[in-house]
Amino acid sequence: MPRPAMNVLSGIQPTGRFHWGNYFGAIRQYIELQGHEQSFYFIADLHALTTIRDPDLLARNSADAALDLLALGLDPDRATLFRQSDVPQVTELTWILLTITQMHLLEKCVSYKDKKERGIAADAGLFTYPVLMAADILIYDSDVVPVGADQIQHLEVTRDIAQRFNSIYGDTFVLPQPHVLDTSARVPGTDGEKMSKSYNNTIPIFDSPRRLKKLINRIRTDSTPVEAPKDPDQCAVFDLFRLFADPEQQDALAARYRAGGMGYGEAKGMLYDAAMNYFGEAFERRAELERRPDDVEDVLQAGAARAREKAAEVVERARQACGLARRPDRVVSV
Ligand code: ADP
Ligand code: TRP
Repeated sequence: MPRPAMNVLSGIQPTGRFHWGNYFGAIRQYIELQGHEQSFYFIADLHALTTIRDPDLLARNSADAALDLLALGLDPDRATLFRQSDVPQVTELTWILLTITQMHLLEKCVSYKDKKERGIAADAGLFTYPVLMAADILIYDSDVVPVGADQIQHLEVTRDIAQRFNSIYGDTFVLPQPHVLDTSARVPGTDGEKMSKSYNNTIPIFDSPRRLKKLINRIRTDSTPVEAPKDPDQCAVFDLFRLFADPEQQDALAARYRAGGMGYGEAKGMLYDAAMNYFGEAFERRAELERRPDDVEDVLQAGAARAREKAAEVVERARQACGLARRPDRVVSV
C-alpha cells in the first residue's frame, strides 16, 4: 500500500553504543516508518558536541551509529541517512531562529535542567540545544517527527518558534507534529532500572558474544532458590526475554518460572539465545558493512546531498522572509 505523502524526520545522538533500550524504544520504530516520499534520519553529532569533548570518541560514535542503523534495517533506498554536521544550512537557520526565540521557552526545558543537575556544564550550546533541534526539523519541512516522550517538550518549543517566525514574517515554516513512540516497552537494564547510558546498566545491541553473555549474566535477580516457583512479572530477565520472543515462547518460559525447578541462570541462557537469534541477521549485515567503510561513507554523503538540497530551499525561503534577501537571479546553489 503506498504511504501517504508526508515528510518524516528524526535524529538520534551518537552519544555511545546503541543498546536494547534504544532499539525497542526508538530505532525499531524509526525503521518501521521509513519509505515515505521524504523519510530523513540523521545522526545528531552537533547535538552530541554538547556532551562529548573527546574528538576521537565523537568520530567513532558517529561511525558506529551509521553502521548500527544500516545493519538494523535502515534502508538507503527507502530513507535518507546523513550526519547532521554535513548540512551546514542547519547552523545558519539556528541563528535566524535564535533571534526570535524567547528566553523563557528555553528556561523551562526540563532536559536542560536535568542535564545541569547531572553535572553537565551549562554552556550556551546546551541551553540553546532545542533551537538547533527546531532548525533540524523546520529545515526539511517535516510534518511528522517520531520521538520518545522525553523529546515532546522540544517539539512544542519547535512549534512555538515556527509559529512566532510565521507570525512576524509571514507563513514560512510547516508546523510539525510529534509521533510519540510507544515506550510502553520501557526496557530494563542489568540493574532492573530503566536501561540508559547514564546509569551504566546497558546491554549494547552489537558486542562480542562473550561480553553479551557476561552482561546478561550480570542482570540482577532475586535470591529465590532454583526449586522454588518464581514470578515472571517481577523479573528483568523475563521482561527482556519478552522483547525477543513470540507469545508462545513467552508463555512457555512463564510457565517454567511458575512451576519452579528452573534457576535464573537457565533463563539467562534462554535470553542470550533469543537475543542472538533476533539480531542474528543484523550482526551479519554489520560485519559485512564494517568491511566496506567507503560504501557506508558513500551512503552518508549521498544522504547529505539530498538533505542539503531541501535545506537550501527552506533556508532561502527563511532568508527572503526576514530580509536577508539576495536578488533572486543571484541565489547561489549548493
Ligand atoms: P540513553 O538514556 O541511553 O542516553 P537516549 O536518551 O539517547 O538514551 O535515547 C535515545 C532514544 O532511545 C530515545 O527516544 C529514548 O526514548 C529511547 N530509549 C532509551 N532508553 C530506553 C529504554 N530503556 N526503554 C525504552 N526506550 C528507551
Ligand atoms: N534531541 C534528540 C534526542 O536526544 C535528538 C534530536 C536532535 C532530534 N535533533 C532532532 C530528534 C530532530 C528529532 C528531530 O533524542
